[in-house]
Amino acid sequence: HPSNLQMEENSSLRAANCRAKGGAPGFKVAILGAAGGIGQPLAMLMKINPLVSVLHLYDVVNSPGVTADISHMDTGAVVRGFLGQPQLESALTGMDLVIIPAGVPRKPGMTRDDLFKINAGIVKTLCEGIAKCCPNAIVNLISNPVNSTVPIAAEVFKKFGTYDPKRLLGVTMLDVVRANTFVAEVLGLDPREVDVPVVGGHSGVTILPLLSQVKPPCTLTKEESEYLTNRIQNGGTEVVEAKAGAGSATLSMAYAAVKFADACLRGLRGDAGVVECAFVASQVTELPFFASKVRLGRTGAEEIYQLGPLNEYERVGLEKAKKELAGSIQKGISFIWK
Ligand code: NAD
Ligand code: LMR
Repeated sequence: HPSNLQMEENSSLRAANCRAKGGAPGFKVAILGAAGGIGQPLAMLMKINPLVSVLHLYDVVNSPGVTADISHMDTGAVVRGFLGQPQLESALTGMDLVIIPAGVPRKPGMTRDDLFKINAGIVKTLCEGIAKCCPNAIVNLISNPVNSTVPIAAEVFKKFGTYDPKRLLGVTMLDVVRANTFVAEVLGLDPREVDVPVVGGHSGVTILPLLSQVKPPCTLTKEESEYLTNRIQNGGTEVVEAKAGAGSATLSMAYAAVKFADACLRGLRGDAGVVECAFVASQVTELPFFASKVRLGRTGAEEIYQLGPLNEYERVGLEKAKKELAGSIQKGISFIWK
């Protein structure tokens, strides 16, 4: 008699084959850090996403439980769990998209850079796995400090000879999600109708909302612009303080991560006009990485848009952002070549 485990594996294979025959579009997605505060709701939302056919959930703890739980949802994606470093390569083999929310979160009083010591090593190890097992996958990097972890990932991929700047994206979507929400609040609009470009990076003054480019076009007073910029730049800290030691944004981040991952998958599918902000290798400024609007296509970030016209307040903000970003980027690069 086959064991329960074998029967489960057989039935999940049958389910996958059945869907493959139906020709349903489906991508293979791995989440690294899937049992964490972001990882769990992210896994749940990706299980609902009709563009996902296979969902691999990897963590160093608790992934079997999260996998068993999520696998009972009656949606299309086949879910498989992977636990610990020895299973990293199986988790990654064949993946089209890898989403990384692995790593420690902030506590009150900490900056994102305070997480560098622990998270830099985690991101390095995970990216070595990606370079070996799915070098062509799109990578969505969430682990903080994003301003440094994206350069770390780039250098790891360069070492392995697999680096394609188009496929490495730092996730800054939560800044856009927050900006849309806060601007809508001030303007008395539905947040779903508001689009605020947020450029630069993902930490403090490097988060630069371009309020002069809000859609639909609007006029904000100087006080409103300053209030909104400040609130958007400190949105993460607002949550860290409210959680009072129990972590940072997880639910709104999972929402933002899925919004971004879905855009990447629509791009991979060949949809036209998929544009979102992300922290990518860039020639928009003199810095090697910068967040701005990018067009997502079959090969990743296929086009990186210029910042467009800035007002005086934004120009001053841009200079501050670049100064801090330069140091964070260099710190990430040096970590790999030290
Ligand atoms: P968490 O501690 O709840 O979860 C992190 C998970 O990562 C845990 O399950 C842990 O076991 C796992 N992990 C640790 N080392 C690992 C490894 N080597 N391989 C695989 N998994 C590993 O933290 P969280 O709240 O989910 O936050 C995760 C990260 O995301 C933090 O660095 C946080 O700062 C960052 N974050 C980024 C954004 C953003 O906008 N980019 C937003 C929120 C949080
Ligand atoms: C956020 O913006 O919520 C995340 O970067 C987590 C944090 O530490 O603020």
